[in-house]
Order: sequence, then C-alpha cells, then structure tokens
Amino acid sequence: MRLILRIVLFGPPGSGKGTQASLLERKYGTAHIATGDILREAVANGTEVGLKAKSYMDRGELVPDEVVIAIAKDKLASTDSNGFVLDGFPRTIEQAEALDGVLDELGMPLEAVVNLRVDQDELIKRLSGRRVCPACGEPYHIESKISKTPGKCDQCGADLVHRDDDKPEAISNRLKVYEVQTAPVLDYYDRKGLLRNVEAVGSIEEISDRIVGSLGR
Ligand code: AP5
Repeated sequence: MRLILRIVLFGPPGSGKGTQASLLERKYGTAHIATGDILREAVANGTEVGLKAKSYMDRGELVPDEVVIAIAKDKLASTDSNGFVLDGFPRTIEQAEALDGVLDELGMPLEAVVNLRVDQDELIKRLSGRRVCPACGEPYHIESKISKTPGKCDQCGADLVHRDDDKPEAISNRLKVYEVQTAPVLDYYDRKGLLRNVEAVGSIEEISDRIVGSLGR
C-alpha cells in the first residue's frame, strides 16, 4: 500500500522512533531519515563530520546544530515524492526553524509531528537492552525484539552491536539532554497545530497503527 507521509517522529531516546520509522518505510516506502544513523555512519567511516560528531555522541550530548542541519538539508533535498519520516531531527528550536525554511524552499510542508510518549523506566529498559545493526540501522532488543538468528540482523545479516551511548552513564545524560534541549520543541509544534501525541507502549504493530491513525488516515 502506498501512503505519502511528511512527518517528524519525535520522542525521548528509546521511545521507538527508529523502530517505527523503519516499519513505516517497509510498509509504505516512505524515506526514513535518521540523523543518528547518518552520524554513526560518518563516525564509522572516519569522515570530517564523523570526527566532529564522535565525542558529542559518546557523551550523549547533541552534535552542534550547524552540522546536523546541513545533513538534514542534504537528505531532504534528495527525497522523492513518497515523502519522508524524520527520526531524531529536529532536536532544538534552531533545528526546527531551519527545517521550516528547508521544507518551504522544497514546497513540502510538514504534515504532523508525532510525539511518542513512554515513561522513563520503560525508556531505560529499552535502551539498556537494545542491540542495533551497524549496517542498516535496524534496532532489536534482547527481550522484546529478538533477531531470528542470534546476534545477526534479520534485514541484512550484519552482526548486531551494543551502542556505546546505550551504556548507563550515557543513557542518563541523553535523557537529561532531551528534557532540557529537545522537549521544548514540542511547544513550538503545538503552537503551529502540528503536534500529535501517541501512547507508545504496546506492540510495535499496534503503535504503528496508532501513528497512522493520529494522522487521520
Ligand atoms: P539517535 O540515534 O537519534 O538516538 P535517540 O534519539 O537517543 O534515539 P534512539 O535511537 O536511542 O531511540 P529510538 O527512539 O529510535 O528508539 P528505538 O526504535 O531504537 O541519536 C544518537 C546521538 O546522535 C544523539 O545522542 C546525538 O549525539 C546525535 N544526534 C542525532 N540526531 C541529532 C540531532 N538532530 N541534533 C543533534 N545531535 C543529534 O527503540 C529503542 C529500543 O526499544 C530498541 O531495542 C527497540 O527494539 C525497543 N522497542 C521499540 N519499540 C518497542 C515497544 N513498543 N515495546 C518494547 N520495546 C520496544
């Protein structure tokens, strides 16, 4: 089924943005743009952007706005008419304002910002048990989403890894950074009438249906 979406998936670390964006991509063919995945790839390839980003990411802090805005701009410019699901961007007011400018230029207005709501204990459980595919970015969990072949990605067969920023100290810093720097972006979108809140506890399929339902589809 084809469904054109132009949305931001918003929410704290571990709320399921990557899981849901990747499911929407498989179901509807919508481009999944994840700034975290792009930055991790840049770090792995040792590019200039990767070298700038690595220390921030390891500490669980935000990478400077200008670096991330340039990445998102570039990706959105090459997006086709199937739309996009932004995952992990924007995370500051400055990024949200820059996104408005880029989408205006491209003539692709944002349809909605879907905020995935999950309580803190559940976030910590999800992040500490997460394993990810370094090749395609697909997330797994040691209890709730186990790969078919232990330690291997179902989508591309690569070896799964435990992200450095999923260690306890970095998790706690990421949750604090979210509250201080990122949560205020919710008000920005609420004022524009774009905010949709979705309870994001339950099965992955159920939550996907809630996301599409919140868009009135
Ligand atoms: P990023 O990769 O974007 O990390 P994040 O926002 O912290 O989000 P996560 O990837 O941790 O969680 P998620 O919400 O995608 O959850 P997931 O689906 O994996 O960013 C990493 C770093 O890059 C940042 O700290 C920053 O340094 C930098 N960065 C990135 N973007 C930036 C930006 N715009 N500005 C500045 N810096 C930026 O799910 C988590 C786990 O839960 C998985 O194990 C999954 O299997 C499990 N799970 C999912 N759904 C469910 C469910 N319904 N029930 C049970 N378990 C579930």
